[in-house]
Amino acid sequence: MLVLDGKIASAAVKASLLQQTQALKAAGKRAPHLAAILVGNNGASETYVASKVKNCEETGFGSSLIRFTDDVSEAELLAEIAELNADSNVDGILVQLPLPKHIDDEKIIEAIHPDKDVDGFHPTNIGRMVQGLDTFIPATPYGVLLMLEHFNIETKGKHAVVVGRSNIVGRPMSILLSSERPQGNASVSLCHRHTPKEELIKITQQADILVVAVGIPEFITADMIKPGAVIIDVGITRVEDATAKKGFRIKGDVNYEQAITKAAAVTPVPGGVGLMTIAGLLKNTMKAYEGKFYHN
Ligand code: GUN
Repeated sequence: MLVLDGKIASAAVKASLLQQTQALKAAGKRAPHLAAILVGNNGASETYVASKVKNCEETGFGSSLIRFTDDVSEAELLAEIAELNADSNVDGILVQLPLPKHIDDEKIIEAIHPDKDVDGFHPTNIGRMVQGLDTFIPATPYGVLLMLEHFNIETKGKHAVVVGRSNIVGRPMSILLSSERPQGNASVSLCHRHTPKEELIKITQQADILVVAVGIPEFITADMIKPGAVIIDVGITRVEDATAKKGFRIKGDVNYEQAITKAAAVTPVPGGVGLMTIAGLLKNTMKAYEGKFYHN
């Protein structure tokens, strides 16, 4: 059984990016710069954004964290995005989701210039991805592709099953795995909340590659896994646990202890896909930088 260790795969991506950044700096150019917008003080979002900023530092990137309180208006957020769009020293912009209910996520995402949309959430970039054009691939599916690439996992001709159809993970993942591209060319089944459980079990039992992004801790059990499958667990849920130092534990969507008895390879949680999401984001930020002609 192979542990698909996100620490190892993301370290390789980051080492290559650091080298590129050092070469840019040696040539007298500025480093890529990521601007992250965080609204409110949701614990998980705080952790993710802090980690994104820290990883920028580790790869020599510049970063800014722009914080707003929960009561920020949509107009204020749009004004900040307009400023960042116009700032030639900012390559990538991300707005951490979820946003408070009074703010329209779609409006905010569409306000980010597609050339700076390093999360790959803008409809223009999603459309380009669907058509197989060069674009920013959403960070988490991109991270999964980088993980598969790092561990030389063949996808061509395999049956990949994706559970969960979110705009951020499941839907783009299913499109990428079925596309004509490296880590693509799979036959893909996409299951979701309306797939009856008995049907879901039958489908996951046929998965050579199983990607799970439903946000339900330990949803996938041993009986749902094909012997020798590759299991990619995208779930990161905080589950209350009084015996844990922080009062919670991080749980994935897959019962790891059960999965390792049947699968050929499994991503751990934490330490799996979460780290690869950041690697994908950093690669997108470098790509955004390289797309420009006015570095100084
Ligand atoms: N919230 C959960 N995942 C993500 C992500 O990949 N990007 C952003 N911006 N917000 C998220």
